[in-house]
Amino acid sequence: MAEKITLSAIKADVGGFVGHSSMHPALMEKATESLESVKNQGLIIDFCVTHCGDDLELIMTHEKGTESGEIHKLAWDIFVECTEVAKELKLYGAGQDLLSDAFSGNIKGMGPGCAEMEILERKSEPIIIFMADKTSPGAWNYPLYKIFADPFNTAGLVIDPSMHEGFIFEVLDVFQNREISFKCPEELYDLLILIGATEHYIIKNIYRKTDNEIAATSSTQKLNLLAGKYVGKDDPVMIIRCQSGFPALGEVIEPFSFPHMVAGWMRGSHHGPIMPVSFEDAHPSRFDGPPRVIAAAFQLSNGRLIGPQDLFCDPSFDNSRKMALDAADYLRRHGPFEPHRLPLDEMEYTTFPAVMEKLKERFKKLN
Ligand code: 13P
Ligand code: 13P
Ligand code: MG
Ligand code: MG
Repeated sequence: MAEKITLSAIKADVGGFVGHSSMHPALMEKATESLESVKNQGLIIDFCVTHCGDDLELIMTHEKGTESGEIHKLAWDIFVECTEVAKELKLYGAGQDLLSDAFSGNIKGMGPGCAEMEILERKSEPIIIFMADKTSPGAWNYPLYKIFADPFNTAGLVIDPSMHEGFIFEVLDVFQNREISFKCPEELYDLLILIGATEHYIIKNIYRKTDNEIAATSSTQKLNLLAGKYVGKDDPVMIIRCQSGFPALGEVIEPFSFPHMVAGWMRGSHHGPIMPVSFEDAHPSRFDGPPRVIAAAFQLSNGRLIGPQDLFCDPSFDNSRKMALDAADYLRRHGPFEPHRLPLDEMEYTTFPAVMEKLKERFKKLN
């Protein structure tokens, strides 16, 4: 019987070059060197190292299952090694996302973001890994809804018999640390009242209803809540399977043609449009943004990662980028006003408590 393959996409910001804008090649080289040697020893089948902005992305395939201590420790050790390189170069925020001094068995809750799925590889297994910078995992709610529940986006929901029954959405309540599942299309409206609140309810996994096969998974760590204070946001990753009973590759990337508004621009405290870009353009700079997303597509071949294809490196996304830039101009003119700036209780940076403390005697009570 064929072995199950696990895909792990684990990321962390261990130092920006320059500021929070991008990645120094030395970090990518260090990570590649380490993963190459682990691959030769047989712990992993294959890997791809990339970055989105200042986030180092480790994409790995192996047979250890999800939440494997061995794989998580491997990723953690690489982030620690890369932090050493970042410190030596005095890169910005070296080790920013490593919240703990020692690894305790599972990378979740320790800072890095992690999306994993274990699958029986199909005859042909196209997958897309999305990686974003200057935003948070709630940024995936909108595209995931469009891909797996909106027939105006995904023609297959209407005309492909193998998808026609719909999908199950598993949603995490990040404030109360609990989860709930919705069957779609029949529970669409209940789903939407929750996932429209992207900083509170986050889509974690999506399953095909007919056979419970995993279709999509996202990183759902909320760094700000984990650490109890701002130490770096949770720029997210997500894995989606495509074709033959799942949405077609083109249906999966179609929602990104609309650069929807997300939280996380400048100091993690502003809304901005999420702009789909090529790998080469994944270096947010203007006002530390606007937020970016890249899409790396692979064919799996017995766990080997055949790829990546840089899906947003395509002129058919030029209009989306233009729309994102127009939206960015429009929002920027609001300066410190909402809705460009996040609500008071959602900003990663704030002077609000200190200012209120200073002013408290000066407020006059009105009758
Ligand atoms: P510093 O206060 O570290 O300069 O951070 C500003 C910033 O870039 C927000 O992350
Ligand atoms: P990162 O979370 O990508 O490090 O960005 C920090 C920030 O707030 C930049 O303005
Ligand atoms: Mg950073
Ligand atoms: Mg980042």
